[in-house]
Amino acid sequence: MKTHSQPVALVTGANKGIGLAITRQLAARGYTVYLASRDEQRGAEAKASIEQPGLDIRPISLDVTNEHSIRAAVARLEGEVGSLDVLVNNAGVAGPLLRASQCDAQGLRDVYEANVIGPVSVTQALLALLRAGERRTIVNVSSELGSLTLHSYPDFPFASFDLLAYCSSKTALNAFTVLLARELQEENFKVNAVNPGFTATDLNGFTGTRTVDQAAQVVVKYATLDASGPTGGFFTEGGTLPW
Ligand SMILES: NC(=O)c1ccc[n+]([C@@H]2O[C@H](COP(=O)([O-])OP(=O)(O)OC[C@H]3O[C@@H](n4cnc5c(N)ncnc54)[C@H](OP(=O)(O)O)[C@@H]3O)[C@@H](O)[C@H]2O)c1
Repeated sequence: MKTHSQPVALVTGANKGIGLAITRQLAARGYTVYLASRDEQRGAEAKASIEQPGLDIRPISLDVTNEHSIRAAVARLEGEVGSLDVLVNNAGVAGPLLRASQCDAQGLRDVYEANVIGPVSVTQALLALLRAGERRTIVNVSSELGSLTLHSYPDFPFASFDLLAYCSSKTALNAFTVLLARELQEENFKVNAVNPGFTATDLNGFTGTRTVDQAAQVVVKYATLDASGPTGGFFTEGGTLPW
């Protein structure tokens, strides 16, 4: 049962980087935003860093690789708001900087836990709350590095970022996006994969060329689509990306 009048969003991995900027932008648009982080202290500090009068930002513990943590977060939302309008699966790790001939199984497993199984588990656990919401919007924060088509172009500018674990985890996240979008289409869900672009964050040792605010704007655009918005797409700042 919906018990909250403002639209409600939850952003995973929101204690820093692009996730924190997404949280701030959604809150500024009037959303109640659950700022999810795997470390409670980091979440509280992140909220304090963007706190402003009138914003409703609620830190919540959520390790996307931990079933107990996911269940506890769902129970809290059920008790506090009773529905969820927007889920942004933003949490992610870079993993080992190893190419396809070198990346070991453990490196692959760790990255897939955070970047693939995590978003799948979080989404499935929150689906009932999303169905109870009005906007039914899911954004999976992907990457152009997950595009098999772009990797096959000889002049792909990020061809040197051929990290097996990270790139293929985003390809798998894209597959989840397509399949879930199709499954939920008749229930008027919008499920999209969004590339924030190469952004200066911890993930890449702050070598990215975009700001977190620029990156967040792209994600927020697809997190705040109206009912006529697309579903099952892969988007970047300039439009669509090839799978
Ligand atoms: N930066 C780029 O150029 C770029 C480009 C394309 C896509 N992306 C994607 O954008 C998203 C955000 O990345 P970012 O660049 O903002 O990186 P970041 O600054 O390193 O932030 C990553 C966030 O994910 C969290 N996280 C990692 N594992 C988690 C887990 N198991 N449970 C919950 N949270 C977890 C981190 O928490 P801790 O602080 O606790 O580690 C942190 O809050 C990622 O999905 C990334 O793949 C980034």
